[in-house]
Amino acid sequence: MPTIGVIGGDGVGPEVVREGLAVLADVAEREGFRYDLVPFDLGGERYLKTGEVLPDKVVDDLRRCDALFLGAVGHPGVAPGILEKGILLRLRFEFHQYVNLRPVRLYPGVETPIKGKGPEEIDMVVVRENNEDLYVGAGGFTRKGTAEEVAIQTSINTRAGVERCLRYAFDLARSRGRERPYRGLSEEERGRGLVGQVTLVAKTNVLTFAHDLWMRAFTETARDYPEIKSDYQHVDACCMRMVVSPERFDVIATTNMFGDIITDLGAVLQGGMGLAASGNLNPARTAPSMFEPVHGSAPDIAGKGIANPIAAILSVAMLLDHLELPRASERIRRAVARVLAAGAPKTPDLGGRANTADVGQAVRNAFE
Ligand code: NAI
Ligand code: MG
Repeated sequence: MPTIGVIGGDGVGPEVVREGLAVLADVAEREGFRYDLVPFDLGGERYLKTGEVLPDKVVDDLRRCDALFLGAVGHPGVAPGILEKGILLRLRFEFHQYVNLRPVRLYPGVETPIKGKGPEEIDMVVVRENNEDLYVGAGGFTRKGTAEEVAIQTSINTRAGVERCLRYAFDLARSRGRERPYRGLSEEERGRGLVGQVTLVAKTNVLTFAHDLWMRAFTETARDYPEIKSDYQHVDACCMRMVVSPERFDVIATTNMFGDIITDLGAVLQGGMGLAASGNLNPARTAPSMFEPVHGSAPDIAGKGIANPIAAILSVAMLLDHLELPRASERIRRAVARVLAAGAPKTPDLGGRANTADVGQAVRNAFE
C-alpha cells in the first residue's frame, strides 16, 4: 500500500490540497486501491513559531513515503527564499527529482487568451531540468553592501545531469507518439516514421559553454530515437512562438531557469495558474517524487476559499501516474474535462463565482 506524504504548506496550499485529497479518496474507492496519508506540517507558520524550515528528521520521514503531494510554500511574513529554497529546492535536490514535468494542455471549455487557438493547438509538455543550473546556489558576494559589491551566481550544467533529463524528454515524446502521433509533423515526416518531436529550448548563441554542452548532449541523445524529430529554439524565440503558434510544440526540454519562466507562459496558454499541474520526478525511484500545482501560495486570495483547486487535482492525477495507477489518473482527467466543458462551476480566476469546495465537489460528481 503506497504512502503519500502531504505538505499543505502556506496560503491557498492547504485549501487546494484538501480538494485534491477528497478527489483521491473518491477515485481510490471507485478503483479499489488503498493508500496511507502522512501529513507534514511545514511552511511559514511553523517557521515563524519555531524557527524550523525543514529539520533533517522530517527529511528522513518524507524519504520513506512513496510520493509527496505539496500545496505551495511562501508566506508574506517570511523573507523571500527562506521557505522556497529551504523546503522546495532542498527536497527537489535531496530526493534527486531531476525532472520537473509540466504539461500544458488546453481543455475544451477553457478560454485561452491566444486568439484563434484551441485544444487542438495547445497540447505540449515541458521537461524542465530540476537539479542544476542557476538554482544550485553556487555563488556569493564580495564587498557586500559597498559601492564595489560583486555578486556571482553560477549556472552548473553537468553532462550526466543534462543527458538524463534529455533522455526523459525523448522517452516521453516516444510514448506520447505511440498513443497519438504529434500533429505538427508533415505528411512526409510521418511517412518517414516520425511520431513525435523534442524541442531543445536554450540560448546557444550566448551561453556558449553551458548550452554548447546541452546541444551536444541533445544531438547525441537524439540518435537513439530515430522516430522523434529534434528541433531547437532559442528561449526568446520560443516565448514568441508559444504565443503565435503553440501547435509547433510537442515535448520541450529545457534548463531549470528557462523552464521556470516559460511554464508560467504555458500556464497562461492553458487558462491560468489555477489549471497548471506539475511533478518533480525522480525517474530512477531512489527517493519519492513530489507533485504540486505550479502556482504559489497566492496570498492575495488566501483564506477566501476561492482558489481554483483544479491544478492541485490534476497534480494528484500525475501522482497516480507515477504510482502506476493510470486508470485512476485518467478517470480524474476525464472528470476534470467534464466539469470544464460544462462551463460551471468556475472559480473567479476562470470568470465564475464558485468557491474552491464547489469545484472540488463538481469534479467528484463528474466521475462516471
Ligand atoms: P502565485 O502563483 O502564488 O500567484 C500568482 C497569481 O495567480 C496571483 O494573482 C494568485 O491569486 C493567482 N493564483 C495562484 N494560484 C491560484 C489558484 N489556485 N486559483 C486562482 N488564482 C490563483 O505567485 P506569487 O504571487 O508570485 O507568489 C506568492 C508566494 O508563493 C511567494 O511567496 C512565492 O515565493 C511562492 N511560490 C511558491 C511556489 C511553490 O510552492 N511551488 C511557486 C511559486 C511561488
Ligand atoms: Mg515559477
